[in-house]
Amino acid sequence: MSNNTRGALVVVGSGPGIGSHVARTFSSHGFKRIILLSRDPSRLEQDAKFIHSTTPSADISTLSIDLSKTSEIPSALVQVDKALGDTPLEVVLFNAARVGPSTLVEWPMEELELDLRIKVTGCYAVVQWAIPKLLAVKSSHKPAFLCTSGSIYKDPIPEVFSLSVCKAGQHNLIHSMHKKYKEEGVYCGLVAVGGVVADDRPQCNAENIANKFWALYEQRNDLEVEILDG
Ligand SMILES: NC(=O)c1ccc[n+]([C@@H]2O[C@H](COP(=O)([O-])OP(=O)(O)OC[C@H]3O[C@@H](n4cnc5c(N)ncnc54)[C@H](OP(=O)(O)O)[C@@H]3O)[C@@H](O)[C@H]2O)c1
Repeated sequence: MSNNTRGALVVVGSGPGIGSHVARTFSSHGFKRIILLSRDPSRLEQDAKFIHSTTPSADISTLSIDLSKTSEIPSALVQVDKALGDTPLEVVLFNAARVGPSTLVEWPMEELELDLRIKVTGCYAVVQWAIPKLLAVKSSHKPAFLCTSGSIYKDPIPEVFSLSVCKAGQHNLIHSMHKKYKEEGVYCGLVAVGGVVADDRPQCNAENIANKFWALYEQRNDLEVEILDG
């Protein structure tokens, strides 16, 4: 496909790490229309500058969304529809997460519910919005729903059990989507990061993770790729 026929990339949960690096990598491969979403508008502007530093021609919109406020997600997605305009949606990256410790038994159930709202219910809300649009462009584009996962979905860490539980549920959702939509022309897949993301990690650095997302997107076959350091 020629680069100038690419549709839009929407990153749900953009930030200085994986989110903006995936957007920058996809922009360097021809995705010039990019929409970044998270809670902090000023931080999103920094993500946009980071992408522009590599792809000055990128047309970037930044919009606020708080996935923990489930009832507000539909109206936030209407704003994404407005920002898309006539540009077809081609790729979604669901990357949002609250990353941090959660001590078993002491962790309040309300906090577990909040984590589930962001990472599972929030992801499902974006799936409901995105899938009809992605199916609609399957004959002209390479539609995909991508998600950032972690090895904890299958090998939980007790000290971050809340995130582990959410990653298991989220992985299961994307696995169902992979089974259902692969033959229908929409690729659904995950990159499972098996360590803390940092610039000095040989594998688990955001740039390498972004490159793995691009390779997975191009391959359009496997459910996931896992990234491990050592
Ligand atoms: N960092 C790690 O060590 C690590 C390791 C393995 C897997 N992962 C996975 O990688 C993904 C995140 O990548 P990253 O750590 O490099 O972070 P990142 O891409 O730099 O940023 C992720 C963004 O998600 C947004 N977010 C958090 N809560 C949100 C909410 N309620 N609604 C909307 N947006 C929200 C945050 O922005 P706002 O605060 O502005 O909303 C944050 O900047 C997650 O799926 C995480 O589970 C991370």
